[in-house]
Amino acid sequence: MSEQVELIVEGKSIKLPVIEGTEKEKAIDIAKLRSETGYITYDPGFKNTGSTRSGVTFLDGELGILSYRGYPIDQLAEKSNFIEVAYLLIYGKLPTSAQLTAFEKEIAEQSEIPSNIGTILNGFPADAHPMGVIGSLLSALTAFYPESIEANPSPEALHKLMVRVIGQLPTLVATTYRKSKGLPVLAPRKDLDYCSNFYYMMFAEAGKEYKADQVIADALNKLFILHADHEQNCSTSTVRIVGSSQASLYASLAAGTAALWGPLHGGANQAVIEMLEEIKNDGGDTAKFILKAKDKNDNFRLMGFGHRVYKNFDPRAKIIKVACDQILGKLGVSDPVLTIAKGLEEVALSDQYFVDRKLYPNVDFYSGIIYRALGIPTEYFTVMFALGRLPGWIAQWKEMRDDNEPIGRPRQIYIGETERNYVPIDNR
Ligand code: CMC
Repeated sequence: MSEQVELIVEGKSIKLPVIEGTEKEKAIDIAKLRSETGYITYDPGFKNTGSTRSGVTFLDGELGILSYRGYPIDQLAEKSNFIEVAYLLIYGKLPTSAQLTAFEKEIAEQSEIPSNIGTILNGFPADAHPMGVIGSLLSALTAFYPESIEANPSPEALHKLMVRVIGQLPTLVATTYRKSKGLPVLAPRKDLDYCSNFYYMMFAEAGKEYKADQVIADALNKLFILHADHEQNCSTSTVRIVGSSQASLYASLAAGTAALWGPLHGGANQAVIEMLEEIKNDGGDTAKFILKAKDKNDNFRLMGFGHRVYKNFDPRAKIIKVACDQILGKLGVSDPVLTIAKGLEEVALSDQYFVDRKLYPNVDFYSGIIYRALGIPTEYFTVMFALGRLPGWIAQWKEMRDDNEPIGRPRQIYIGETERNYVPIDNR
């Protein structure tokens, strides 16, 4: 007999099935709760709610475990490259060497963007935040590829849509950046690997010979892999819920980009650097900012600290902290905010407030320092997160469709005015 839990509602007992994941995590299946009791559950922020069964990413926040399709994150970050991880996330298996080569080639071949994108970009103010621009451009892709809004694309057509957006997103980002700076736009180079091509399109000097730098390519690959998926977070859940209405892949990705932008989610990497700069300009007194973060009358939070799920350590942050020292060393960059970040972490980790609430550095605490060392402008940090998260969003969107998940439609507890006190409008 499979496990059940007993729930007593208004004296009536009902049995609810328990479902168990492959890592032994358990959930009470409440699918029949409302029909049998009239009750719904209430869980602000979905802190206890599993919205789906998923085979893409596993994480255990207490043990600090993160794996994609069963592969530990540290192994992937060390031994894989971003496109291989994208394939793994989307198709569920590591590609063979021939499959990887073919996938990389397909992506490179799809990396050019419609020329009218340039015309659209001309309409944006030069100082527009790139996350808003990139979200708009992702949505605009539906106009250039009307077949993308087909509700039930064939597997081949879907593959083409996925490959195209992986190929085009770096080009959209680099084109946005260069146009905002008044620099000539560079076409993608198909002879370069994915990360080197992105860096080339962002920063190469037009008309000059360009030599890709392996340190930079390795750093981008690592950061993108570490950001590639993170199960049902705010942006990924948004992608799935938007896609559940059969909205197109590109429209769902645009929604995910909007969700990622906020400072409590992907926007934290920009906010961290701005906070570290503020501390530096204020004289570097980390203790003062720790006090501010603890003060409930102050709206200030220690950005890059805390996580909804990780309550011990964020395995991505551990890898990034080590990578940060290594990459800055290799690039010969010395950044005073790195010293401030390390000092801040040390003070916070021994402070009772942070210890009691299990607040640790998250993935965004050190990533911005690496991006800065690579010359990425601060307002592009969250865009870098989006570039990394793209295959995760795609994989989760595809899984949601493959599993025929119903449209996402939560319920609510209504607390507004009641019709019982209704005064007919004519009697106003
Ligand atoms: N600084 C100071 N206090 C904090 C912080 C922080 N960064 N994070 C949480 N707290 C406190 C919070 O005030 C609350 O205290 P109390 O119990 O006294 O009311 C307690 O810790 C629990 O916080 P919460 O807001 O209920 O926790 P949550 O799970 O809803 O929020 C979080 C998680 C990531 C939104 C939050 O920790 C936060 O705002 N961190 C700063 C922003 C940040 O770095 N975000 C990036 C997250 S990782 C990248 C990603 O995948 O999105």
